Amino acid sequence: MAEQKTILRALAGERLPTPPIWMMRQAGRYLPEYRATRAQAGDFLSLCYNSELAAEVTLQPIRRYGFDASILFSDILLLPQALGADLWFVTGEGPRLSTIQSQADFDALKTADAVHDTLSPIYETVRILRRELPRETTLIGFAGAPWTVATYMIAGRGTPDQGPAHALKDQNPELFQQVIDLLIEGTVTYLSEQIKAGAEIVKLFDSWAGSLKGEDFDRYALEPAKRIISALKAMHPDTPIIAFPRGAGERYVGFAKATGADCVAFDDGVTAEWMAQHVQPDGCVQGNLKSSHMVTGGAALVSETRRIVQALRNGPHIFNLGHGITPDADPENVQLMIDTVRSC
Ligand code: CP3
Repeated sequence: MAEQKTILRALAGERLPTPPIWMMRQAGRYLPEYRATRAQAGDFLSLCYNSELAAEVTLQPIRRYGFDASILFSDILLLPQALGADLWFVTGEGPRLSTIQSQADFDALKTADAVHDTLSPIYETVRILRRELPRETTLIGFAGAPWTVATYMIAGRGTPDQGPAHALKDQNPELFQQVIDLLIEGTVTYLSEQIKAGAEIVKLFDSWAGSLKGEDFDRYALEPAKRIISALKAMHPDTPIIAFPRGAGERYVGFAKATGADCVAFDDGVTAEWMAQHVQPDGCVQGNLKSSHMVTGGAALVSETRRIVQALRNGPHIFNLGHGITPDADPENVQLMIDTVRSC
């Protein structure tokens, strides 16, 4: 039997001499080969729904760098689209969706079952990837967490402070909870289908968890993660789950235990030393390197990379950035980061 893949060993709680590495948005606009394939597909959404080309861009950073894990190329906003929201991307600005402001807007959405058929090209991408990825590379599937996806569905776009979603939550908590419940159900189905198609790990992105405070954090970040994870574990007990409650700060402490996640992913708002002390004793941790180092490179990139590896060397750790790599990053800095991690 082949030796278990390094990232799966880290997720099972093993401390490894060299942490496995992958990078959020590793297939993306900083790579010329990605830009070429996106142009071939026409636009970003067409690329997401073209299984062959989506698999191709997923493989590009694996060929170039030999990352230990590969993340399915897709987007968290395909789920609301499958549920009936209109979705389009404005070049240079970001996503736009139809909004949810009333019960009637919510009632016009589809049920969670829609996720089976509408998102079938995504499951096909997963199947292609399981055939084409190198044997040692692990495939990660993903979805957005309900709160983060809801912030886009309610506002119809990205917002700096998630104001419209906070307003709906505070003014019409019943309607807001219906949105969250639909997203929980849809996300369980969506991730379960990815696992059935061959995803070996799944990750839940709660990019805006940091704007939820106090009880709101428990209700809308922690509780939905817990419900999604327990439903997935009941169906797929052997598939590890990474949770990313970005910006959670102190609320990172105990998050894995409370939700059942096998690993928590970190932004760059805490130090690696703090992660080692407060969160790593409970299990695997991932992330933390500031994405801006992929733009600036040099001695600061090397010393920060080393610092994170050193700080987390006594427990299970997956090396990653604190957020996605940006389009202005230099591909050579990615190689420098990898070389640094692997020579620590
Ligand atoms: O990490 C990966 O490489 C896997 C693919 C992936 C994408 N988006 C591709 C993408 C993943 C995991 C995501 C997650 C995602 N999408 C999140 C959560 C993580 C985070 O970044 O906080 C969010 C909030 C979205 C929604 C989204 N998609 C926004 C706000 C944008 C526009 C901002 C931007 O970077 O342009 C996108 C577009 C998007 N998703 C791109 C990529 C590669 C860029 C699209 C392009 O090629 O023009």
